[in-house]
Amino acid sequence: MAQVPRTFLITGATGFLGGAVAVAALRSGYGHQLRLLARGSAEGSPRKRLIENLRRLGATNAELHSLGEDFILEADLGAPASFEGHPSLACVERVIHAAALPTFSNNPAIPTVNVDGTLALAHALTPSVLKRFLFVGTAMAVGPSMGRGALIEETDQLAERHDHLVPYTASKAEAERRLRLELPDLPLVIARPSIIVGHTELGVSPSQSIFWVFLVGHMLGAFTCDLEDSIDVVPVDWCANVLLTLATREVLEHDLYHISAGKESSVTISALDQVLAVARRVAPMAANYRRIGGSEIVRTMSRMREIAPGANRRLLLRAMQLYGGFAELNYVFDNNRLRSEGMSASPPFTSYLPHCVETARGISIADQMKWDFK
Ligand SMILES: NC(=O)c1ccc[n+]([C@@H]2O[C@H](COP(=O)([O-])OP(=O)(O)OC[C@H]3O[C@@H](n4cnc5c(N)ncnc54)[C@H](OP(=O)(O)O)[C@@H]3O)[C@@H](O)[C@H]2O)c1
Repeated sequence: MAQVPRTFLITGATGFLGGAVAVAALRSGYGHQLRLLARGSAEGSPRKRLIENLRRLGATNAELHSLGEDFILEADLGAPASFEGHPSLACVERVIHAAALPTFSNNPAIPTVNVDGTLALAHALTPSVLKRFLFVGTAMAVGPSMGRGALIEETDQLAERHDHLVPYTASKAEAERRLRLELPDLPLVIARPSIIVGHTELGVSPSQSIFWVFLVGHMLGAFTCDLEDSIDVVPVDWCANVLLTLATREVLEHDLYHISAGKESSVTISALDQVLAVARRVAPMAANYRRIGGSEIVRTMSRMREIAPGANRRLLLRAMQLYGGFAELNYVFDNNRLRSEGMSASPPFTSYLPHCVETARGISIADQMKWDFK
């Protein structure tokens, strides 16, 4: 009897990271094996959104043509009946599960999609066929109590639900916990990215998510961190290639990895300032920079309204306060495990930041913010 071809499932390919992972997989020759789980919308099938997103993230016609006929698994993680028992899942050998609601809001669907949907997907796969389930978590699953300026090690330590800054990071921690507890035989590997901003070749043209926060902070000349604090940012294409390697390498040393800049590639706010100033053709914030407390951000509101005309004031303030809360922690996420697997270090944010500025030119802050408030 002919063997059923083993498939490679990627979720979240209409989004930033999942889309970049799908492009990396196409480039590595996995086109025929790919199944992309994506949800339909009022317009119907997600096909058009998927193709547009993969193109935005650099996929060529030839790469898109390498996808099989039935590469879409139309399903909603918030409605497990849409994928449970689906014939496409019977031959899934590898999974990169990047889909989630990564919102900082209190959307009541967060636990349903990020936790229950993840568990339901893992349960729906065929244990005798599945070789790896790569869960994309978040480095911030450790919560905000590790101590300002801490180097966060790759441990199973996760913050309790009440100790998270937002329900989103709590849900990612909860999904990790439940995967380990409820599916002890799942070939699970957890990958926790730090902060993903831009693309080394495409700048922020595929997504301005989070990038606008740096611009607003720079224009304000004030934020919640010191100039000598570090920020752990990685580009989406490097992150996608690392995830692909973690999903496809037969043997890994560990089952939990930070996908982070770590000590060697994190950059200081001062270095960011210098590069941003040149790219924006303005003077550096340098000596005029003020570190402010999270509660003081509200006092910068009138200036923020000048910087971001047309932006929803409530969202702008809440986002700056929340990102301010994360920035204040000054965490760097250790990446020794990745490095000891022989993977390259992340390009530092400053190395591709000018390209991010260039590709954001002419796009208002209000429009850039839409990537984070879809
Ligand atoms: N961006 C970062 O800085 C960062 C940092 C650490 C970890 N991560 C993790 O990386 C992953 C991807 O994040 P991202 O920044 O790429 O987010 P994103 O651009 O918002 O993409 C999220 C993806 O999840 C899909 N999704 C959401 N709800 C779904 C549902 N009910 N059923 C099926 N698919 C659903 C979205 O599909 P639709 O297009 O249909 O909405 C989209 O494809 C997430 O797991 C996030 O936790 C991101």
